[in-house]
Amino acid sequence: MKTIVSIVGARPQFVKSAVVSSALTSAGVSDVLVHTGQHYDFEMSGLFFDELGIPEPEYNLGIGSGRHGAQTGRMIEAIESVLLNIRPEMVLVYGDTNSTLAGALAAAKLHIPVSHVEAGLRSFNRQMPEEINRVLTDHIADVLFAPTAIAVQNLENEGIPAGRIIRTGDVMHDAALRFAARAEAVSLVLQQLQLQSREYILATLHRGENTDDPSRLRAIFEGLADLAQQMPVVLPLHPRTRKAIDRAQIRAAVLQRILILEPLGYLDMTMLEKHARLIATDSGGVQKEAYFHSVPCVTLRSETEWIESLEGGCNQLVFPVNGEAVAMGIRESLRRKPIFRNGIYGDGRSAVHIANAISRWDSPYSLDKCTNTPSRVANDAISCSVSD
Ligand code: UD1
Ligand code: UDP
Repeated sequence: MKTIVSIVGARPQFVKSAVVSSALTSAGVSDVLVHTGQHYDFEMSGLFFDELGIPEPEYNLGIGSGRHGAQTGRMIEAIESVLLNIRPEMVLVYGDTNSTLAGALAAAKLHIPVSHVEAGLRSFNRQMPEEINRVLTDHIADVLFAPTAIAVQNLENEGIPAGRIIRTGDVMHDAALRFAARAEAVSLVLQQLQLQSREYILATLHRGENTDDPSRLRAIFEGLADLAQQMPVVLPLHPRTRKAIDRAQIRAAVLQRILILEPLGYLDMTMLEKHARLIATDSGGVQKEAYFHSVPCVTLRSETEWIESLEGGCNQLVFPVNGEAVAMGIRESLRRKPIFRNGIYGDGRSAVHIANAISRWDSPYSLDKCTNTPSRVANDAISCSVSD
């Protein structure tokens, strides 16, 4: 049986691994789950394992929070020890967090092949730590699982050999399909918050570019508070943003108009997304989930990695320059009638495509991965893609 190590650490990675880990098991691959501990509050981590039936990680490295260099460095050191212990045939990393880059670097330095789920996403903004993490991980990876046609194109534009790229669709789409009915059946969040379907705005906020700039953070909250006079605005708050609110000294009168909640579990979040009139967010995952559930989205940034979601007016970029711009952009979006397309995020079996490719993959490396210098031969025998 092939043994791989999957590295997770942050909230969206738990959602992605929920569908990929079970597909790996079905494909006969032994998946050793390593949690870096980047996210550690129960609402940011444990709740997802409980709700989504993700197996308990075999290793929790307990790295916690810190500056980028310190946090990533501590992760690399701890992951390296685990990899030397397990000696897996492959390391699987997800997305674009510091846990992703640390996993990819630790594996590559030990000459262990790396595969990357959600490869090829680009904002073309090198100020974003996530952009650095994605670019480096993609260039380290041996197998790149690209969710969309644009992601494939981005990788090819950077000279990554086509034989390493597999277009699979988006695993978050699989998760949305798998858990939507359960959310409808068990979540009481609408009743608890006394919200009516299609009569509220759901917002999330956690990007450094918004939270670390007090004037931008004030602009977003002032815009949302303005809209809250028209319809309820619900905001499950990321812990990073809660700390940033205190620093930015946002007026109590502004905060009181918004229904601010603790971070939600995936099922309550899915329920709120599905029934929202509109979603305003700077999250990558939440932007896509808005699309999966055919809910209009406003992205509170000047660019997005999920370019295809902009088509048909489904997602609109609003740069939070001040409160009026935020409120005006969202009101404009509320007036639109977006057209959602099927299939741009795959066929709902992305995790199965990934698991099958991993189970079929033959390493081009020597068996003694930790001492030999490998020849980096791309294995293009496994290329497959999901059609539109
Ligand atoms: C990280 C990822 C980001 C991803 C997001 C998902 C990086 C560089 N960023 O951002 O790409 O979109 O996760 O949510 O990897 N904190 C807590 N409790 C927790 C976790 C964090 O209080 O359980 C607080 C700490 O003050 C911490 C801050 O949030 O310093 C930021 O956490 P961190 O994991 O560094 O980055 P995120 O903003 O969560
Ligand atoms: N999410 C959640 N509860 C929340 C906020 C987000 O379950 O309170 C889920 C959301 O549905 C999506 C994932 O977390 O599946 C996205 O994570 P986040 O926005 O933190 O990160 P990003 O996708 O921007 O990297």
